[in-house]
Amino acid sequence: MSKLLEAQPRRVETIEPGAVQLVQITDCHIFASADEKLRGLNTRRSFEAVKAAVADNAGDPDILLATGDLSQDGSADSYRYLAGQFDDLGVPTFWLPGNHDDSAVLEKNFTGKQIDAARQILAGCWHIVMLDSTIRGEVHGRVAEAQLAFLDAALQQYPDRHALVCLHHQALETGSEWIDLKGLRDADQLRARLARHRNIRAVLWGHVHQEFHRSIDGVEWMSTPSSCVQFKPGSKEFSIGEESPGYRYLRLNQDGSLETAVHRIESID
Ligand SMILES: [Fe+2]
Repeated sequence: MSKLLEAQPRRVETIEPGAVQLVQITDCHIFASADEKLRGLNTRRSFEAVKAAVADNAGDPDILLATGDLSQDGSADSYRYLAGQFDDLGVPTFWLPGNHDDSAVLEKNFTGKQIDAARQILAGCWHIVMLDSTIRGEVHGRVAEAQLAFLDAALQQYPDRHALVCLHHQALETGSEWIDLKGLRDADQLRARLARHRNIRAVLWGHVHQEFHRSIDGVEWMSTPSSCVQFKPGSKEFSIGEESPGYRYLRLNQDGSLETAVHRIESID
């Protein structure tokens, strides 16, 4: 896809004018093999359990967001499997890459009737901007000048819409020292750039495999549990969390406010 096409917004029609229902699923870490496990957890089975929970409990979402680390091994088969799974839900699905993804393989294979690589989405009164914070071969992230310029241009195009900005890496430190060291190296620059725009309502990411939500000066800063392995909140060193996999539901209101909740599946082996 050309840079120009990437920048084109896709208008998503919503059932209820003004309110947009959105589900974020993140850090699926799918393998090419159906039997492979991450830290003892079969990531396909946990994804399918999260998907069933979305189908059963998330109402009738207008949009699904897949915010990176869709694959653990960057394989074509992992993306093809996951594309079929997302397509089953029958909801327009937008994605951005994470540090475990191979962007070229992802773009080529994570395709389907419902899957769209657009980097801007217009929905209700909202404008959703999808950033790429990955650096090839690195765990940590960076938005760098090209992405910041894209963000500026995108936001300037729709100053009257409420904006939700999505990326893979954390835009704020989450309080887990080890993962914060593997976060967004230029988070200060991103926050400074966001502060120039008065219509930013929320920033949403994955990567940290845990729930986080802070409200600062009218902006909601949020991360979401992985659909597989959880990381223990507040841990100084790498530590697996006991919580179940989950997803985040968001209702984006016409007035720029939002309601959100994290839902976790009951249990998984
Ligand atoms: Fe991840």
